[in-house]
Amino acid sequence: MQETTLKTIYRYDDYSLNLPKTCYLPSDDTFLLLDALKKEALNNYKNTLELGFGSGIISLYLSKKINMVDCCDINEDVIDYFKNLVDKENLNINVIKSNLFTNINKKYDVIVFNPPYVPSEKINLKDKEAIATDGGKEGSEIIDQFLKNLNKFLEKEGVCYLLISSLNNPERIIKNIKKEFSVKIINKKKLFFEELLILKILK
Ligand SMILES: C[S@@+](CC[C@H](N)C(=O)[O-])C[C@H]1O[C@@H](n2cnc3c(N)ncnc32)[C@H](O)[C@@H]1O
Repeated sequence: MQETTLKTIYRYDDYSLNLPKTCYLPSDDTFLLLDALKKEALNNYKNTLELGFGSGIISLYLSKKINMVDCCDINEDVIDYFKNLVDKENLNINVIKSNLFTNINKKYDVIVFNPPYVPSEKINLKDKEAIATDGGKEGSEIIDQFLKNLNKFLEKEGVCYLLISSLNNPERIIKNIKKEFSVKIINKKKLFFEELLILKILK
């Protein structure tokens, strides 16, 4: 068996997920974001986009609340795995391969992103495993690129939920966001070497 075909079986809700080896396993960051989303009135919105869906558990949750769910990732392994699941289960989720917003061509009411945020020397888009975590300088290079384009893809009354870490210079990021949006911290979790924050960004 080739290494890339190894799978992890992960149970979420009623689903048995056959995660490919290069997929990011749901972790503290995933669950902090999911907890924050569960407290929000998402039923009021028409459509949503999850960037960097990985295992897809956040998109699976969103699909129970919002009619039209698009989700994208740069890792082809997770694209193949999740397309299969969505077809098999006949879900209202559209799976797109995209480097951030590159292949996205519409606006959304809700945009959700748990980005790669760990400080790293460089970002190698071809390394399917490292791309899930490596965020470049201050861990914020992908976050900065995302924020640069957010306004263009968010509807007028839209909302974005973004996870960042204390490792990312949150003061700088929040100051930057405030140039175009309003923002508040709606969830936090202290871990051993960092604190995770969930930002709610409003247009
Ligand atoms: C920290 S993981 C989060 C995965 C999942 N959403 C979760 O919360 O468990 C980041 C995800 O973003 C994807 N990703 C990294 N860089 C990306 C980019 N430039 N465009 C799209 N997806 C990207 C990775 O492949 C990975 O699946």
